[in-house]
Amino acid sequence: MALLRSVVVGCGAYLPENVVTNAALAERGIETSDEWIVQRTGIRQRHIAGPDETTSVLGTRAAQAALDEAGLSPADIDLVLCATSTPDHTFPSTATQIQAALGIEGGFAFDLQAVCAGFVYAVATADRFLSTGGAKRALVIGAETFSRLLDWEDRTTCVLFGDGAGAIVLEARENDASDRGVLTSCLRSDGRHRAKLYVDGGPGSTGTTGKLRMEGREVFRFAVGSVTDVIEEAFRASGTTADDLTWFVPHQANRRIIEASADKLGIAREKVVLTVDRHGNTSAASIPLALAAARRDGRIQQGDLVMIEAIGGGFTWGAALIRW
Ligand code: UT7
Repeated sequence: MALLRSVVVGCGAYLPENVVTNAALAERGIETSDEWIVQRTGIRQRHIAGPDETTSVLGTRAAQAALDEAGLSPADIDLVLCATSTPDHTFPSTATQIQAALGIEGGFAFDLQAVCAGFVYAVATADRFLSTGGAKRALVIGAETFSRLLDWEDRTTCVLFGDGAGAIVLEARENDASDRGVLTSCLRSDGRHRAKLYVDGGPGSTGTTGKLRMEGREVFRFAVGSVTDVIEEAFRASGTTADDLTWFVPHQANRRIIEASADKLGIAREKVVLTVDRHGNTSAASIPLALAAARRDGRIQQGDLVMIEAIGGGFTWGAALIRW
């Protein structure tokens, strides 16, 4: 049997209209400054969802944009996979809500929860279904409304996050000379780090949603120090090197983390796609938002070699290498 590859055929994103600058946060009484936030994180602004903009609403709009770029209709999709830590409800899944909003009646849909690494986990998961014949076309979505998990009294976390959604369409195709598709992916987790980045509530513990808590410095250290293993593994598995990459599209949490990781891996700074300045940290949505931005401005082209990489609560982390 011919080898099946999961090929990216569409990419899209959606951001809430409401833009909140660093200065606006300081004006609201949060003891912070534009200077501190820009210097420590690179973030200048973030988008914040309105009351009616739930995660499924953002995810549906991003999914529709990805379908439009692919020239496909919702009926062409038989797998909807949504990476999110901010579902509309505890259940049913946000993915099934997006499935219904798009008018998809066949196939199957489910959520995947790996916090900020969720999109990389979702790409790796969808790839397993597509490359083994379990589905033909997948909408892989990262959608979040992290603003609803924030403690707005905690300046060490509330200035860092934003809302948004991004999506790609992956299609199972027989591998050919173009070598397009997901070439490899590498996932890791280590639950011993739970207390460094978590939400202090949940349906099975407090019965409340809870608020995000983070030991920022510890997460920073792990992000720069340890997670390059998955990227090196992806290079090894695919027989490629940093020089072969066209674009590096990492999770957008902090400009300093991104640049330190790129430097450590020998990835040239001009290959790094950065959106953290405009979006803040949108957790599972940050990579597909960045992919869509780099598609829209003409940077990512068919045939380009693109490395995505993320680390999130758990800790969870991973990387995937895609020939676009
Ligand atoms: O997406 C999941 C992954 N998450 C991340 O990757 C986040 C990783 N961590 C980080 O990005 C950084 O650690 C932060 C941006 C969260 C913090 O930067 P930092 O350089 O590690 O700062 P710090 O926590 O060491 O704090 C330095 C100072 C402290 O004051 P003192 O103790 O030195 O007097 C903080 O109280 O900055 C103070 N501070 C603030 N000042 C103004 C903390 N937050 C703020 C703030 N505005 N918003």
